[in-house]
Amino acid sequence: MSVEMMIFKPILIFINPDFYHIMMKKLILTSFVAAVTSLSAMAAEHTFDIEVSKLGAPIQPTMYGIFFEDINFGADGGLYAEMIKNRSFEFGNPLQGWRVSGNVEVRTDGCKFENNPHYLRLSYSGHKVKHTALENEGFFGVTLKKGETYRFSVWARCPEGGKSSLEVQLVDEALDRNYQCIGREAVTIEGKEWKKYEAELKCVADCPDGRLRIFLHDARNRKPSNSSQPAVTDVEHISLFPSTTWMNRPGGMRQDLAQALYDLHPGVFRFPGGCIVEGTDLEDRYQWKHTVGPVENRKYNLNRWQYEFDYRFYADYYQSYGLGFFEYFQLAEDFGAAPLPVLCCGMTCQFENDIKDEAKYHVAVEDLDPYIQDAVDLVEFANGDPETTKWGKLRAEMGHPAPFGLKYLAIGNEQWDYDQAHGHNGEANAAYTKRLKRFIDVLRVKCPDIKIIGTTGPNSEGWDFDLLQPRMKELGVDLYDEHFYRNEAWFLGKAKDKKGNLIKGCGALRYDSYDRKGPKIFAGEYACHGSGKFADGKEKKCNHFETSLYEAAFMTGIERNADIVHMATYAPLFAHVKGWQWRPDLIWFDNSRSMRSVSYYVQQLYSHYKGTNVLSCSMNKQPIAGQDGQDDLFATACYDKERNAVIVKVVNTGNVAQSVKFGWTGKKEDLKTGYKALKVITLHSDDLDADNTLDDPNHITPQTEILDPATSEFTVGAKSFQVFVFEK
Ligand code: AHR
Repeated sequence: MSVEMMIFKPILIFINPDFYHIMMKKLILTSFVAAVTSLSAMAAEHTFDIEVSKLGAPIQPTMYGIFFEDINFGADGGLYAEMIKNRSFEFGNPLQGWRVSGNVEVRTDGCKFENNPHYLRLSYSGHKVKHTALENEGFFGVTLKKGETYRFSVWARCPEGGKSSLEVQLVDEALDRNYQCIGREAVTIEGKEWKKYEAELKCVADCPDGRLRIFLHDARNRKPSNSSQPAVTDVEHISLFPSTTWMNRPGGMRQDLAQALYDLHPGVFRFPGGCIVEGTDLEDRYQWKHTVGPVENRKYNLNRWQYEFDYRFYADYYQSYGLGFFEYFQLAEDFGAAPLPVLCCGMTCQFENDIKDEAKYHVAVEDLDPYIQDAVDLVEFANGDPETTKWGKLRAEMGHPAPFGLKYLAIGNEQWDYDQAHGHNGEANAAYTKRLKRFIDVLRVKCPDIKIIGTTGPNSEGWDFDLLQPRMKELGVDLYDEHFYRNEAWFLGKAKDKKGNLIKGCGALRYDSYDRKGPKIFAGEYACHGSGKFADGKEKKCNHFETSLYEAAFMTGIERNADIVHMATYAPLFAHVKGWQWRPDLIWFDNSRSMRSVSYYVQQLYSHYKGTNVLSCSMNKQPIAGQDGQDDLFATACYDKERNAVIVKVVNTGNVAQSVKFGWTGKKEDLKTGYKALKVITLHSDDLDADNTLDDPNHITPQTEILDPATSEFTVGAKSFQVFVFEK
């Protein structure tokens, strides 16, 4: 037993005897003790002065949140639990994702859902053994679980009268036996009018890569014969969901993925993008009105992440909008997060469509009215009276008469202006801000309670950022949205430009010098993107412990500046291991499993221990931000009124363990002494290149220790993130 444990054994046993034994087990099982008090001879080299008698700026409840975009198959094939790909036959190729045989025809006449006109006509093939059948491949397979019940539904009719039966099967083609069906049900179709038919299929075996197969049978559910043939049958919107979903809502979200979001305790929920909001062409921009009402009639749309990177190309990536604006608001409510929708400002993606094609790709300022009306209507959809307003009524019809309490609206994603040095033909063009101004003018009058969020474009510094930042203040937005996917040096505050000068605004000191009288900040998309390659040649631009640790270091600056930074959301959120376009990401999944990355745990620790007020925390009167002489230490402190606790977050990004002493300063005594409990949570990995995986999802997770609350000197391990919670 180590000297430290000999000293702590009595303390731990005193606090909780069971806990001592749990702790011992954990210490034996794990190879490190990341937070050990330094009661040994080590002298404290770093004193953090924490002013506990004066509460600093409030930390907003919205501070740490989530940003969802349908990228990496995050929605269809991901959070949205639908298992059938191209369920309404509306992909560019209406039969994409389907295998058909026998007599199957794609039609659009007499459709049931005007926004999704395609349906299939199934008819007798003309021979009893030439089966008319359909088969769907799902998203990277139809993954089935033994014992689970699946909810099948289809809209169907027999347009020429008569009856038929659909033999619906869950199939495992890899099964080494004659009969491959692992779940089945028959559905009788009758009547010339479209009707919804439903069935529950019990699955008897696990199957990672199954199929949904449907045979057209005669009315008795027998294979067609010369004497008994099925009626002609039209089918549309073929759907299959597990019965286990988030909150057990039929047609809802994947339980494990929604749970992972819930477990972050997000304060704000930004949706639905991202670049997806803007569209490559105006017609495929995100239109929230296409995503509400009955799911069957939500108009399919391309997903730009289908083709964005030709080296990660997914021809079958579309948006069904089964996860639409109603569901986003509902999730925000489930999570206790403030909903924050982002709307298209009348500009398509500027990366893809240069402003020199302004007339072709961007809406003229004088033609923006419908776009602005969409914004006004969205506020009505979220907050309007359920009986007297058109959009409030729709919300009520969809099952939520109470308002969703929308308070924030972001106009545009990563849009920017041009100055003479960067405009075409040397012309400046307030491309974004001239449009934003029109939205602001109307919204301030019609929706005076809504806080408007502008954007400072895709870059955290440079000419475009420098141009936009003061314009956000001039326009009087309430917040502006900054994005930064940057490398390790940037997150550590040591990034240099091509001339070797330190990049202004990089690292944890970024917000210390910001204008205190300007709009508030929403760090709406950020992640540390590793540069270079690992020893095995794989790009470091992927999830691994080291970059997550640097995110933790950077976030000390977010928290310290809570007077102006009101929201921060990591991006992107989700990625399917077989369908990603962008990494790193917060949560990875396949069809049946999910994994929370180290970055996830960084976000979670900040969110769970965010406190209610900043406390001044400095070393030699300087913010602790990895500055020269600070030995790679970063720190921030806060007070949590609800817990009655002082919380100190410390990140050591260096290769050497550091000794740290907390010096409680301030005139009043109330928080300086008398702590009853001290909890230390540590996130650490000896292997900087490692992260959690689907096979080993708990490889690197926060570890909690209970220490003597009188302790004020600690050793913060090399490459560690620690949260110290002193409870009164
Ligand atoms: O998060 C991925 C993309 O990064 C977002 O869609 C966009 O806003 C940013 O460029």
